Amino acid sequence: MVLRTIFGIPISGNPALIMVRVLSGSRYSLVVAVWALVGCVLMLHLYSLIHPRERSEGDIEFHLSQLQLTHELQASQDEGFQIPPPRGRRSPRAIKRRPRRSTTLIEEFLDETSQVRHMFFPDQRTAIDPMKEVGDDNMYFSPGKIWLDTDGNPIQAHGGGILYVEKLGMYYWYGENKNGPTYHAHKKGAARVDIIGVSCYSSKDLWTWKNEGIVLAGEETNVTHDLYQLNVLERPKVIYNDKTGKYVMWMHIDDANYTKASVGIAVSDYPTGPFDYLYSKQPHGYESRDMTIFKDDDGVAYLIYSSEDNSELHIGPLTEDYLDVTHAVRRILVGQHREAPALFKYRRTYYMITSGCTGWAPNEAHAHASESIMGPWESMGNPCIGGNKVSRDTTFFSQSTFVLPLPKIPGFYIFMADRWNPAQLNDSRYVWLPLSVGGAADMPLDYNFGFPLWSRVSIFWHRRWKLPNGWNG
Ligand code: GAL
Repeated sequence: MVLRTIFGIPISGNPALIMVRVLSGSRYSLVVAVWALVGCVLMLHLYSLIHPRERSEGDIEFHLSQLQLTHELQASQDEGFQIPPPRGRRSPRAIKRRPRRSTTLIEEFLDETSQVRHMFFPDQRTAIDPMKEVGDDNMYFSPGKIWLDTDGNPIQAHGGGILYVEKLGMYYWYGENKNGPTYHAHKKGAARVDIIGVSCYSSKDLWTWKNEGIVLAGEETNVTHDLYQLNVLERPKVIYNDKTGKYVMWMHIDDANYTKASVGIAVSDYPTGPFDYLYSKQPHGYESRDMTIFKDDDGVAYLIYSSEDNSELHIGPLTEDYLDVTHAVRRILVGQHREAPALFKYRRTYYMITSGCTGWAPNEAHAHASESIMGPWESMGNPCIGGNKVSRDTTFFSQSTFVLPLPKIPGFYIFMADRWNPAQLNDSRYVWLPLSVGGAADMPLDYNFGFPLWSRVSIFWHRRWKLPNGWNG
């Protein structure tokens, strides 16, 4: 008795044998079966693209906040960067001899005498003063503008990162205090400021920052000390160790020529310090320049650093007390020449923003993703959206330093970057922008049959913006 048909072939009997009989029945049915299988795989793939892999209760919240973000994005103004007309009059003969090349926006950015300097480094009159702002301007982040602390002084926390201490409901922002004169130690050396120390600021709303002072100070007299003022201390980051109850700071330690290429470690019982400096080393025996640390949900923390002449990054777990690295290490983004890493996690996938290697000059950011923190990491191209092309290609004239999650809005982060001012490093500015993870990627990866695998990471340009209501509770 014929009970059913599969691919048009009448089938009866034990269901477990049906497929075998179909496949062995004829060559025609085998071809159909293979095509059907391919169809199923494609359908599944399409389904997984439309419906993100893991769904949780946060989804509704996420979509709501996305809507709100999109709305605010539309309302935000674009930066109207215009290249100024050439300066001064030139004789027709001079013009004939050598026509004046028009400058690029990036050249204008790097030129301290540029007529449009105020666009990149707006002056004191436009400073954001949270103690004075009232009405409409309240709580607005204004990338590039001078940002004052609660004492009315410009915030000095460059190359920084933020630690949220839940039991205190407080955010702590650590960064380089560069409030000294900029000079060149050597003719060809990078512009520098002597080590002053690591500043700490505290805030409950991420907008009003109280200066908690210098929590790790530079060393003025002992020339053999890592923190001796003529050396380099950059990119300090702090995490809390739940097992030891200590706040642990990692930072880039170097000499003025950047040949020491090491990490330094300091520790404190309190988020506001003082931090005791422990030692420096080359992790895993390798050079380490731009770096960051990342604490995963399971409490394991990792060091990520640019190595091998900044041609690749290395990543490896810290010891349980966070005071050293372990032996485990992986080379990632090999040959890609990336630095300024800022790592974050969304739904079990790890993401990272990096910059290219052009010293204090801005360049294009890249986003990267990985299923496992130890790699392999894939590059997903430039995450910057909005503004104009040159600002997208220069990370809005800034360089990544940290990505701060806002846990109440899954998929939403604050991208923190530095707009370096190499002529006057103490006047470098902060570029904080909304970063979101969501939607299909727009840069397909080779091995994935041309289908994008990762969610897109987007950093949206805003001349000014504020956090969505309810971000903090
Ligand atoms: C950058 C780096 C900064 C600083 C600078 C010095 O590439 O990201 O942290 O080291 O070079 O030129």
